[in-house]
Amino acid sequence: MAKVLHIFAHPGQGTSRVNLALWKAAQSVDGITGVDLYAVYPRYDIDIDVEQQRLLDHDVIVLQFPLFWYSCPALVKEWIDLTFEHGFAYGQDGDCLKGKHLMLALTTGGPHGAYSQQGYQHFELRTFLTPFEQTARLCQMGFPAPYVQFDALAADGADHARGFTALLTALRDDTFDFRRAGEAELLTHDTLPLKEGARP
Ligand SMILES: Cc1cc2nc3c(=O)[nH]c(=O)nc-3n(C[C@H](O)[C@H](O)[C@H](O)COP(=O)(O)O)c2cc1C
Repeated sequence: MAKVLHIFAHPGQGTSRVNLALWKAAQSVDGITGVDLYAVYPRYDIDIDVEQQRLLDHDVIVLQFPLFWYSCPALVKEWIDLTFEHGFAYGQDGDCLKGKHLMLALTTGGPHGAYSQQGYQHFELRTFLTPFEQTARLCQMGFPAPYVQFDALAADGADHARGFTALLTALRDDTFDFRRAGEAELLTHDTLPLKEGARP
């Protein structure tokens, strides 16, 4: 069994449809540590020791958020800035995250087709996520393909939420195929890479 840390970050939960549904669905998966980041740190006063200990205690870190201006909501950035410290996460002797996995679970307002050279977002979604990928790499962490719901304002989100509980369960039970997830561009509820013989 892997230890999974699920960090949920949405500053406007009163209007969230998809992300809040994922957060609620995740509560039904036993053995996952869930943290509602904006509820814990409404004033952005992140406790670095607590957060670093959380990272040390888990094997897979799932960061769940809506895409805001082609990146994460501000508190997620602050959390990374403060907890992924030099000497802890990277740099000389900073290898505390080595061998762990950083996985993104995100939603976008824009539709899939907009995220291409020809589309109005001009870039693939993965291009916008490069800073996260390189952050993971610098910290010697794995970076499986992000789990994505495009067009979240139009989507009803139920499949995405069901897929998310399946994803958390597979991560926990070591039935998630990290090798295939590392080769994929993006993951959706119907393209979760499970190890052979594992049931969805
Ligand atoms: C401040 C802000 C910035 C946003 N930036 C983007 C963006 O860069 N790209 C995009 O596709 N959607 C963007 N959106 C739309 C959100 O990603 C979308 O509303 C969210 O994924 C829906 O999830 P929810 O139902 O959980 O709120 C933005 C929304 C807000 C409020």
